[in-house]
Amino acid sequence: MQYRTLGNSGIEASVVGLGTWVTGGGQMWNGVDDSESARAISVALDNGVNLIDTAPAYGWGHSETVIGQVIKGRRDKVVLATKCGMWWDDARGSFHFAFDGHDTYISLRPDTMAIEIENSLRRLGTDYIDLYQIHWPAKEPENTPIADTMAMLMKFKEQGKIRAIGLSNVSVAQLEEYRAGGAVASDQFRYSMLYRAPEADILPHCAANNIATLTYMSLEQGLLTGKVGMNRKFDPNEFRSNEDWNAWFKLANRPKVLRMLAGWEDLVEKYSCRLAQLVIAWTAAQTGVTHVLCGARTATQAEQNADAGGIILDAADVARMRKNALALGEPR
Ligand SMILES: NC(=O)c1ccc[n+]([C@@H]2O[C@H](COP(=O)([O-])OP(=O)(O)OC[C@H]3O[C@@H](n4cnc5c(N)ncnc54)[C@H](OP(=O)(O)O)[C@@H]3O)[C@@H](O)[C@H]2O)c1
Repeated sequence: MQYRTLGNSGIEASVVGLGTWVTGGGQMWNGVDDSESARAISVALDNGVNLIDTAPAYGWGHSETVIGQVIKGRRDKVVLATKCGMWWDDARGSFHFAFDGHDTYISLRPDTMAIEIENSLRRLGTDYIDLYQIHWPAKEPENTPIADTMAMLMKFKEQGKIRAIGLSNVSVAQLEEYRAGGAVASDQFRYSMLYRAPEADILPHCAANNIATLTYMSLEQGLLTGKVGMNRKFDPNEFRSNEDWNAWFKLANRPKVLRMLAGWEDLVEKYSCRLAQLVIAWTAAQTGVTHVLCGARTATQAEQNADAGGIILDAADVARMRKNALALGEPR
């Protein structure tokens, strides 16, 4: 496993981080087996992963609760990253979506943040969070000023409740406004070989300013592992059926991706690895990418993903894979 510092925080985190959205289960992921999730978390930690990313919204607290149970007794071995800003206790904030019977709001108001952090600490069974991230930026009509949110984050830091501040899903302008209020260690956003938009702005900006980048959906939620064939169907309520986010999942688009993956058989052999690991290693090799978050439903997936943190691809192979991904064009 390779380790890289989270910006200027001094915190060393594994290049491959365990993503735990799926760990929350619910309709979004068509359910999940908690005992298998627990095994996945343990196996990731046993195989060099120390960065675990979660959020209250993942299963409405469930993901945090499962993690809290598993890391009991080894809290000091974990770089625990959770988030704030998705709120469903009442109608404070700006309405975001309704799912699993929860009306969910984006709220970065100091009063809801004060409640959220205590809930997260309790569920995670800890008295500090290593990296506390804004899940989504505030939006109209509530649109809490960034200075107010950042002041609250700085207060949490002074109180010792958090060690470092992270952002997620922000624009470059928003990121800079946050940084005006204090040190920002990381930014988290969607990035994969099929979703390269961050290369135009946020990735180089983070690289130039020593801000760690935690990429998400870098396996395109399983599509880039090669296991989502033409016959795999998703429940209409699952997030993977959301074609606005997951256009490559459409049956019309899948064959192109599958053909690209099939063309990498020689690379899989060369690095003695699986497609998922090849894709993770490619992502970690991109300029500006410091950490790759990979969701794992099973212990086997968690182990494979962790092992990918030790694979260094030759520059020519990285370039070839990029060329192949670019050749796919945009999904229909
Ligand atoms: N900040 C944000 O707004 C945001 C948004 C999205 C995600 N995230 C974070 O980023 C993490 C990663 O994103 P993600 O979980 O959505 O997507 P992902 O990592 O691209 O995909 C995860 C899915 O890929 C499959 N998979 C993983 N490893 C595999 C392997 N080795 N072999 C075969 N299949 C494998 C599993 O699918 P099956 O379930 O089919 O087994 C798993 O559920 C999340 O867990 C979360 O922590 C953050």
